[in-house]
Amino acid sequence: MSPRRILVTSALPYANGPIHLGHLVEYLQTDIWVRFQRLQGNECRYFCADDTHGAAIMISARKHGVTEAEFIERMNRAHQEDFARFGVSFDHFGSTHSDSNRQLCGEFWKALRGSDLIAESDVEQLYDVQEGLFLADRFVKGTCPVCSSADQYGDNCEKCGATYSPTELKNPKSTYSGTTPELRKAKHLFVQVERRHAFLDEWTQAEGRLPAETANYLKGFFLNNPLRDWDISRPAPYFGFEIPDSPGNYWYVWFDAPIGYLASTQDWCAKTGQQLSDWWQSDATEIYHFIGKDIVYFHALFWPVMLQTAGYSLPRHIHVHGFLTVNGEKMSKSKGTQINASTYLEHLDPSYLRYYYASKLGPGAEDIDLDLDDFCQKVNSTLLAKVINLASRSARFIAAGGLSPEYPEDEGLFESTAAAAAEIAAAYEGFDYAKAVRLIMALADRANEYIDRKQPWSLKKQAGKEREVQDVCTVCLNVFRQLCIYLAPVLPELADKAAALLQTPISNWADAQTPTLGHPIGTFTHLMQRVDPQKVQQMVTDSTVAQRPDEPTSATWADDDAALAAEPLADTCSIDDFAKVDLRVARVIAAEPVKEARKLLKLTVSLGGTHTRTVFAGIKAAYEAESLVGRLVVVVANLAPRQMKFGTSEGMVIAAGPGGAEVFVLSPDSGAKPGQRVH
Ligand code: MSP
Ligand code: ZN
Repeated sequence: MSPRRILVTSALPYANGPIHLGHLVEYLQTDIWVRFQRLQGNECRYFCADDTHGAAIMISARKHGVTEAEFIERMNRAHQEDFARFGVSFDHFGSTHSDSNRQLCGEFWKALRGSDLIAESDVEQLYDVQEGLFLADRFVKGTCPVCSSADQYGDNCEKCGATYSPTELKNPKSTYSGTTPELRKAKHLFVQVERRHAFLDEWTQAEGRLPAETANYLKGFFLNNPLRDWDISRPAPYFGFEIPDSPGNYWYVWFDAPIGYLASTQDWCAKTGQQLSDWWQSDATEIYHFIGKDIVYFHALFWPVMLQTAGYSLPRHIHVHGFLTVNGEKMSKSKGTQINASTYLEHLDPSYLRYYYASKLGPGAEDIDLDLDDFCQKVNSTLLAKVINLASRSARFIAAGGLSPEYPEDEGLFESTAAAAAEIAAAYEGFDYAKAVRLIMALADRANEYIDRKQPWSLKKQAGKEREVQDVCTVCLNVFRQLCIYLAPVLPELADKAAALLQTPISNWADAQTPTLGHPIGTFTHLMQRVDPQKVQQMVTDSTVAQRPDEPTSATWADDDAALAAEPLADTCSIDDFAKVDLRVARVIAAEPVKEARKLLKLTVSLGGTHTRTVFAGIKAAYEAESLVGRLVVVVANLAPRQMKFGTSEGMVIAAGPGGAEVFVLSPDSGAKPGQRVH
């Protein structure tokens, strides 16, 4: 079979925040597939870029006091570093804020205009007068017009599930400035997607184009509704590309973002002397997009229309994955489970995560859970105990003589491991990495059973068994090598180390069919450390961020009574007893760790005016000192001062939780003023 030419993309990460473990579900999933294809001898190129435009980036840059260009430049460097350290093997990682993208956007735009797909109409939108910008739905919050729950987003209510337009919100506030926005009218440009209804209906339903569940979901959509015009412009100010024939208007970020797939390819072509048309306008190239389930719409409805209109190839397949949960829940900054890639890397080996995700990723779009206990357990008890151990228990016994010159009798172990290649390959090809890992681990079990029986470490001690030791170890190391080849898409670094140890390169899937024999091996070094659960805990602690009061809370809860059981209610007290405790709202105006104390932060709190207090609080493990500055807390204001080693504590900050990293400082709702009494 002649090699396939495959172009693969992952969705472009937003440039307004760091890469976290949720994102990595996608980039690692894609990278595994790409590496698998390359190992098959296919020409597989992997493109991505930062998604740099939009109002959110404009605001982030302002907050950091830098230009947008500077802001996205920094973020691009940080993203690329994270990806490189996780072994994500892009052929090119670009930016949507590039000349190539601007030029390609112009080309797509011309084609859409030329096909008469663009319409114009006025849109009324909320406008933040203080910041001077129109507010996207998510940047307005207010009271739900249906159930009157406070603090709801501009597009839907998390409490009652109602959807509405931000102009219907009661008491709307801009999330940027907190001010009340006003309604303003502006001209917008639209793509009339409904005109391509028949094409989209057919295209999305074609066999193998989309996962069946996604295609089905879209089908319902096509049957019942005309497709709404898609609003693809935003009035100034907006960080993006100005529309050449509509001054003062910019392409909406979701217009230029997917075109970024082509722009990144174009930048790579310029670097390597390739032609864009060979990749995006040739039937010989298969295009695969990997995306999360939250962005199916953009890729399955709008993007095909744009590609078709502009005369570029449509994707062969769009692979959709689910969302990451951590310990069974949505990632949460306050629980420390929204873990940035860079934080992970401070504590743990990226191979663990590549392996763990692979072991859980099936072909469908179900959510996947990173259970941190299971993570430790699985990596240690399968990857380390079954695969790595095979080498560490045999490599040491191969003497200077090296591997046996001829492949020894091994009860069919090598043959049967070689024979599994096709089934494992099919699992990778079909995005069922969990199955691939299962198959590989079943092979590892057989090899371990063999080594347990042969016990080269005992043979080594017996006189006259040198040849047998060499043979048994030759078998173990060759099967170990086969497993490393099968795992190479997931664990490229392990494959490299195995190649170095066995002094034989791993460059093709078919390498698993031939043993390596008759030569010395490299010196054995540790291939991988066991996961240390304490480091996992440390990573969570480092990721714990005090929850801001304006962060949305989840609409579902399931509270058990463990906390109450751990600390039963106190005896009844009278209202007069309670009144003896003078609780006051206070603002943290300074905070610093007490160097000599493991648990303490020194806080300066203000009760308003010149009334400040010094309070020592045992919350160092739960809060970064800086994160507390500016926030409102509740203090016991009439507590007798207490002399401590580091100074006098003039009160107490109220907090809940058992202690350590699990401490939650209480804050009043916004609006409360320092000095106010808490009754
Ligand atoms: N910028 C858009 C994509 C534009 S593509 C032309 C975007 N960016 S994103 O940074 O929010 O997400 C990038 C990818 O990561 C998306 O495919 C998204 O689904 C995925 N994930 C982001 N958070 C995720 C999880 N918590 N879990 C799994 N995937 C997640 O969307
Ligand atoms: Zn509601």
